[in-house]
Amino acid sequence: MIISGKTKIFGVVGYPITHTLSPLIHNTLFKEFKIDAIYLPFEVLPENFEKFFYGLKSINNFTGLNVTLPFKNVVAKYLNKKIEHLLINTVLFKNGLSYGYNTDIYGFKMGLIKNYPEFKIKNSNVLIIGAGGASYAVLCAILNEKPKKIVITNRTIEKAEELKNYFCKSQKFKNIDVMPLKSDILFKVDIDFDLIVNTTSVGLKNEKSLIEFKKCNSKQAIVYDLIYNPPLTDFLKQAKKKGYKIINGLDMLIFQAFKAFSIWTDKDPSKFYEKISHYLLKCF
Ligand code: ATR
Repeated sequence: MIISGKTKIFGVVGYPITHTLSPLIHNTLFKEFKIDAIYLPFEVLPENFEKFFYGLKSINNFTGLNVTLPFKNVVAKYLNKKIEHLLINTVLFKNGLSYGYNTDIYGFKMGLIKNYPEFKIKNSNVLIIGAGGASYAVLCAILNEKPKKIVITNRTIEKAEELKNYFCKSQKFKNIDVMPLKSDILFKVDIDFDLIVNTTSVGLKNEKSLIEFKKCNSKQAIVYDLIYNPPLTDFLKQAKKKGYKIINGLDMLIFQAFKAFSIWTDKDPSKFYEKISHYLLKCF
């Protein structure tokens, strides 16, 4: 790769940032499309974020930024325009202005479509485990498709209530229930869930599943873990044993990056899906 005065700069900001796989995805795509650009990781202390962001805005050839934890809910106040009104994970810098997007919504939806194209969220019963940042994009993607009912369960019940209130108001969808997170939750409710999503960080360090699964009654039911490393969490293992179809977060990672790439470059990287997923799997 030859860096010149014309090279466009992209990057991801987070704290910490050492585990990010985004540089691998985007630099591979730049190479495939022969785009003169580079994508770098930026580790920034939270107290330095404002300086960092305004510094970037002053760099004429800085074109695109991904924003990860803990900055997803911070960056919005520095933007000129929010295209999506949820937690921002992608920024486009253009003509001195900054535009914020959420590409996790697309990533989550594409993870489902890629793995189980026949599955329809419409009229389905959905259980969301967790009420942190990641659950916003998941709920938004699900509500876009008109589900029948959503149950949110979280260790801290107030956060689940907050999420429910936010979506009831913003999406005018009333059929959201909140339940405290207990491992036997599936045995306590009278609902057969069609989709169960883990949005918590539990599993990243090989922890046991937060919930127990009962035998799956439907051939269609899916259990989706947003975690991609390890690729098979205990949550997914237990679900598979009980007859559920499973998905991990790898495709969500790839497709949120693809969406960001097309926002920045106007190009569709989907034909490089196999190559990118092959490279990523070698990292685990
Ligand atoms: P993110 O933005 O990645 O979603 P987050 O906002 O810190 O990260 O949210 C983490 C989620 O994992 C929360 O739902 C959190 O539950 P609390 O709201 O009760 O903190 C959940 N979580 C983390 N560790 C957990 C644990 N040991 N048991 C149950 N839930 C846990």
